[in-house]
This record gives sequence, C-alpha cells and structure tokens, in this order.
Amino acid sequence: MRLDESDLELLVEDYRRATRLAHVAGFDVLELHCAHGYLLHSFLSPLTNSRDDAYGGSFANRTRFPLRIVAAVRSEWPVEKPLFVRISAVDGVDIGWSLEDSIAFARQLAARGVDAVDCSSGGMKLPRDKQVVSRTLGFQVPFAASIRKEAGIATVAVGLIVEPKQAETVISSGAADLVALARQALFNPNWAAQAALELTGKDGWRLWPDPFRWWLERRARTLEKLRGE
Ligand SMILES: Cc1cc2nc3c(=O)[nH]c(=O)nc-3n(C[C@H](O)[C@H](O)[C@H](O)COP(=O)(O)O)c2cc1C
Repeated sequence: MRLDESDLELLVEDYRRATRLAHVAGFDVLELHCAHGYLLHSFLSPLTNSRDDAYGGSFANRTRFPLRIVAAVRSEWPVEKPLFVRISAVDGVDIGWSLEDSIAFARQLAARGVDAVDCSSGGMKLPRDKQVVSRTLGFQVPFAASIRKEAGIATVAVGLIVEPKQAETVISSGAADLVALARQALFNPNWAAQAALELTGKDGWRLWPDPFRWWLERRARTLEKLRGE
C-alpha cells in the first residue's frame, strides 16, 4: 500500500494527537520510534522505500516525512520535556541505511529540538550474509558513540548492557549520555538499585524503595558479619 498526501497529513495529525495525549497522561519523556522496521523507519531505509515522489529516492526525500513528524511532535510536546528519537543506526552490514545516514539524520534531529537519539539497529528482513552486527556485550554502543561525537547530540546506548560497571563505562567514556536496559531489567527488576550499591557502596542504599531498604540493609550487615566469621 502506498500512502498518498492526504494519508500522510492524517498521520501527522495522529502523531500530534498521540503527543498531546501522552502529555495529558503525565509522561515525562517521549520517544518517537523511527527504528526496527516501523513506519518511519520504512520511509528512511532504501531497502523498503520504493517511492518515486518527494518522499523516496534521495536521503533528503527519504527523511522528509519522518522529519515532518518530528517537527509536529516537537511542536506539541512541551519544550521542557525531553524528546528522544529511536533509530536503527544501521540496517545491516554493507546494506541499506548506514551509520553515515544516521549521523546526517541525527544532525537534522538536533536542529529540530530533539534531545537524544536512542541508538538501536536492524529490524529489516535481510539476506543471511548481510545481518546486523553480531551480538556481543554492548554491541550497539559504538553507534551511540559515533552519533554523539559526529552529530553533537546526546545519545542513548542500548543492547546487551548487563553489568553496572559496563553501564558506568559507557557513560564515563563519553560513548553515550544514557544507558537503556530491557531484558536485564526483566531478569532483575531491582537492577538500578543494585547497581547503585555496586557503584557507590553503602550510600547506594538510599536509592532502594523504603519498605525494602530497612530489611535489606540489616540483612546485608548480618551477611557481612557471618561471612567475616
Ligand atoms: C519484552 C520486550 C519488548 C520489547 N519491545 C520493544 C518495542 O516495542 N520497541 C522497540 O523498539 N524495542 C523493543 N524491545 C527491544 C528493547 O527496547 C531493546 O532495544 C533490546 O531488547 C536490546 O536491549 P537489551 O539487550 O537490554 O534487552 C523489546 C524488548 C523486550 C525484552
């Protein structure tokens, strides 16, 4: 199905309305999805965008509609609330949307008041030999680092970030401004509080929820004593 100009205008209005509703519902941060094969990614990627009008072909044309949505969302979302955009920094190895495209796109996002780019990858169906980067610890961090450095915009690193020290290094090395966790947070919902303990010592207890802290702090002291004997 090919969207015509009136469909696109309806979509712009839908995004505007969704943004207003997110604000009224009390969300603090909005992340616009331009990754993983979703609609806006399908405009960006030359693998899926086969349009021959003002929205297909050149980089400027393929980014036109996503940037129109970004501008619409930014104008509805309160200026004091952060707006993030999630991208697939690359479609695959040697194919499709590239890291250079992401850097150029991120510059356009910064110019439109986007606060941070959340750097994922992939999402398009690819031939087996053109897969996205292999799954190693922190495999997408280099994308966040390049975009941050080259486009001058804050980035979010995501993907197989599992250890507190690993997350801390991502931030302290200047690779990204924020770290996002998905599966590790499912595995351990107290990850952030546990990381605070690991990274800041006993001071980290103050970040635990009140009803847990009293019990767990005492348990930690008991364990310390028992292990010391
Ligand atoms: C249960 C679950 C649902 C997810 N849903 C989405 C989604 O709707 N949109 C999206 O961009 N990524 C989604 N993801 C991907 C995560 O946002 C994240 O990018 C990915 O899991 C890699 O990070 P991780 O190694 O910390 O899990 C989902 C992940 C999980 C585990």
